[in-house]
Amino acid sequence: MDLVIKNGTIITANDTYKADIAVKDGKIVMIGHNIMLQGAEMVDAAGKYVLPGAIDAHTHLQMPFGGTTSADSYEAGTRAAACGGVTTVFDFVIQRKGQGLIEAVEGRKQLCDPQACVDYAFHTAITDLTPAVLDEFGASAEYGVPSFKLFMVYKKEGLMVDDGVLALALEKSKETGCLVAVHAENPDVIDKRIEKFISEGKTSAWYHYESRPEFVEAEADKRAIHWAKAFNAPLYIVHLANKEGLDEVTKAKDEGYEIYAETCPQYLHFTNEVYKREDGRNWVCSPPIKAQESQTALWEGIKRGDIVTVATDHCPFQSYEKDWGINNFTKIPNGCMGIENLYPYMLSEANKGRISFNKAVEVCAANVAKIFGCAPEKGTIAVGADADIVIYDPDKKFIVSKDNMHSDVDYTIWEDVELKGYPVMTFSRGKLVYNNGEFVGEPGWGRFIKCRPRK
Ligand code: URP
Ligand code: ZN
Ligand code: ZN
Repeated sequence: MDLVIKNGTIITANDTYKADIAVKDGKIVMIGHNIMLQGAEMVDAAGKYVLPGAIDAHTHLQMPFGGTTSADSYEAGTRAAACGGVTTVFDFVIQRKGQGLIEAVEGRKQLCDPQACVDYAFHTAITDLTPAVLDEFGASAEYGVPSFKLFMVYKKEGLMVDDGVLALALEKSKETGCLVAVHAENPDVIDKRIEKFISEGKTSAWYHYESRPEFVEAEADKRAIHWAKAFNAPLYIVHLANKEGLDEVTKAKDEGYEIYAETCPQYLHFTNEVYKREDGRNWVCSPPIKAQESQTALWEGIKRGDIVTVATDHCPFQSYEKDWGINNFTKIPNGCMGIENLYPYMLSEANKGRISFNKAVEVCAANVAKIFGCAPEKGTIAVGADADIVIYDPDKKFIVSKDNMHSDVDYTIWEDVELKGYPVMTFSRGKLVYNNGEFVGEPGWGRFIKCRPRK
């Protein structure tokens, strides 16, 4: 035996109970009472909660974007992940024009492998859906990447696909057991609104929000859901941030369609008021953070089970890069940080009574593993699962500051946010990678997780 975690309260998506956990060779091998084993390292978790490591379903590490590259390398991003209790990250590979799907993944895998401090998996963002790429869906799924993201925006950036491509991808995904995810916003309306605001001299961060408000996102959510229904294909909507789109998700789910919605901590904690701040550019991401009505609806959606995952869309930029847009919001690289804040924030909200701890585990770990094909090894605490474990102190007070974060970014939008409870240890496949404020893992430890296609 390598490790025994004793006396803690185990919390999974479904259960809360007191027991000890024994770990051998990176796997949970026994759960029971009074486990005493010679030679094993003992961790006393009395008074603490013992949770599955979170799985961040949505990150953009060292990704070329917005005229630069997102500021966290694979090493820095996964280091910060470990320190926030995230033991697996799903990063986005961007397929470049003419590239094959597996070719694109292998390129990123080579970059990530020597750097990853926790386990990682990929989704591929398809930007060039040739017949050959369509034919590669099955092979990509076999390779371990059965999920694809389509951007319904970012036309000028060369990332956008049209509805024809979306329809083809949905149809093919159904046939091959893959899952299509969309970034849903209406590009034409955004472009016209940007043109108008800039010509009127309205250039502050507030006009980032005004150029893509609630209805811009809602229209695209509805359109994507329409196509998913037409082909009876599963659909995953990433970073959903508006009430009207969520209402459509609820309706489609009630009708029996397989529609999954993800939201992000920044949409649950902040409102569009942040864009009125002098430093509002730091919160610029797409879709933008919406008004209070949407935030309230998102929390209700989580409680009802219509929002099934909370992931970060971690895509940070340094403050000097955000400053490119001080006088023109269109020059602000889009993206926010959150990889180290996701689990502590959601667990703190549970600790404050907004949701149950089981629900926090469900949306940050268990559902992600099930939807993207890495359960039962990931996302839960059970015999046979990977020993990706977080020890959480519900009594620890924590105030977020850039100085107690572990990424490479020089500020955080979470500065001064007060959390009730905080992770004190993170184990990745049984190895301690975070201990009470300190990263104790190593780059290269993280493994590529082959996800399985749907049945
Ligand atoms: O603003 C964002 N969300 N940046 C990252 C790319 C994306 O759209 O997910
Ligand atoms: Zn997106
Ligand atoms: Zn994203």
